[in-house]
Amino acid sequence: MKFKITETVLRDANQSLMATRMSIKDFEGILEEMNKAGYYSVECWGGATFDSCLRYLGEDPWERLRIIRKKMPDCKLQMLLRGQNILGYHHYSDDTVRRFVRCAIKNGIDIIRIFDALNDMRNIKTAVDECLKCKGHAQGTICYTLSPIDNIEKYVKTGKEIEAMGCNSLCIKDMAGIMSPKECYDLVKALTDNIKIPVFVHTHSTTGLGYMTYLKAAEAGAAGIDCATSCFSGGTSQPTTESMVYTLTQMGYDCGVKYDELKKINDFFVPVAKKYMENGTFDPYVLSVKVDALNYQIPGGMLSNLVSQLKAQNAIDRLDEVLAETPKVRKDLGYPPLVTPMSQMVGVQATVNVLMGERYKSIGKEVKAYIRGEYGRAPGKINEELKKKVLGDEKVIEGRYAETIEPEYEKAKKYLGSKAKSEEDVLSYIAFPQNAEKFFDEREMKSALVATYSIREA
Ligand code: CO
Repeated sequence: MKFKITETVLRDANQSLMATRMSIKDFEGILEEMNKAGYYSVECWGGATFDSCLRYLGEDPWERLRIIRKKMPDCKLQMLLRGQNILGYHHYSDDTVRRFVRCAIKNGIDIIRIFDALNDMRNIKTAVDECLKCKGHAQGTICYTLSPIDNIEKYVKTGKEIEAMGCNSLCIKDMAGIMSPKECYDLVKALTDNIKIPVFVHTHSTTGLGYMTYLKAAEAGAAGIDCATSCFSGGTSQPTTESMVYTLTQMGYDCGVKYDELKKINDFFVPVAKKYMENGTFDPYVLSVKVDALNYQIPGGMLSNLVSQLKAQNAIDRLDEVLAETPKVRKDLGYPPLVTPMSQMVGVQATVNVLMGERYKSIGKEVKAYIRGEYGRAPGKINEELKKKVLGDEKVIEGRYAETIEPEYEKAKKYLGSKAKSEEDVLSYIAFPQNAEKFFDEREMKSALVATYSIREA
């Protein structure tokens, strides 16, 4: 039986363990080897990588993608896209979403995993449609979450919507690692019984359930799973590629992966992990199992963000209080799944509620926008009192918010003028205006320096 393995070291493992600070220089040297390993796909782009390239690494994210594509011509390249949020934290216009998807595929992406933080499928439609038009593989996503309003019937209904949209496959995205082996088995079974497209499972090792959950996913008929090479696996990252392949192969699954290649790849990443552990970027704290997440449902990236936020405010001793406040804020907001950008919103609001000593004394701008309906339909009921406090007499937006957003591309292009060298540059700017512009200015300076230097040399 064929079973597909996606390697996440370049994206999710990097994001969940060390806040996406791995630079292309850290992994460029192993890409040719990864190309040969036999993975179904390598998740290498999207998520927070784009923001991190521009904000922290001084890298052009599009150039990163082109380099990966060039060195990995035979392996499918996969990215994570936040639907109408593309790779940012709020909704963008449809023209931006379409151009972004088109450029991602043009520059080398094969598979786009598309999700909406509220499981509001209206918010992934545009991206899915454009991906299919560009002959990409569109993977519709269900964000897995536990709450009094989420159950198998609801997930199956969403699965049917995803299939009807024309998606090539479906992913159950368990960003917090809270899906138990039994829940996974039942859900995969229910989905495969009701829809025809392949079902992939994505989880994290955060709570220690991940390995067992993956095994049950395989038994229930899932098409594949996401894993991370051993030195970047475990904890808030994915279960280990080598161990999963070893286990599944013994059980008769053909993962298509060359085991010897996996060792070479991991040997390459060991010193990379060591380097970031030594400089403090990769805090081993995130590697230990935290069963608290089963109660708090804090996804990998969110937990490490909360820790660093509280450390920065000299308030790490309040972590337990913030962790207890988080599910309460989530309930007040109608049980949104804790995934970007909802995880940040809920996390920041819980922190503010605790540190200010009074709940909702101050309410974040994004939380207000969410309550107004600018992120889509809230999954459940929003706390009436909170709603009133934010909205006053204003009404919640019922339609698809993106339809109220003016086209963004031409305006941005005009503003940037000669600073933008390509359509991709304009899209970087629309996604992250300040950081992209800073990046363009620095790029300009660098090339001016190189020019001066070469004139002198000549
Ligand atoms: Co993930």
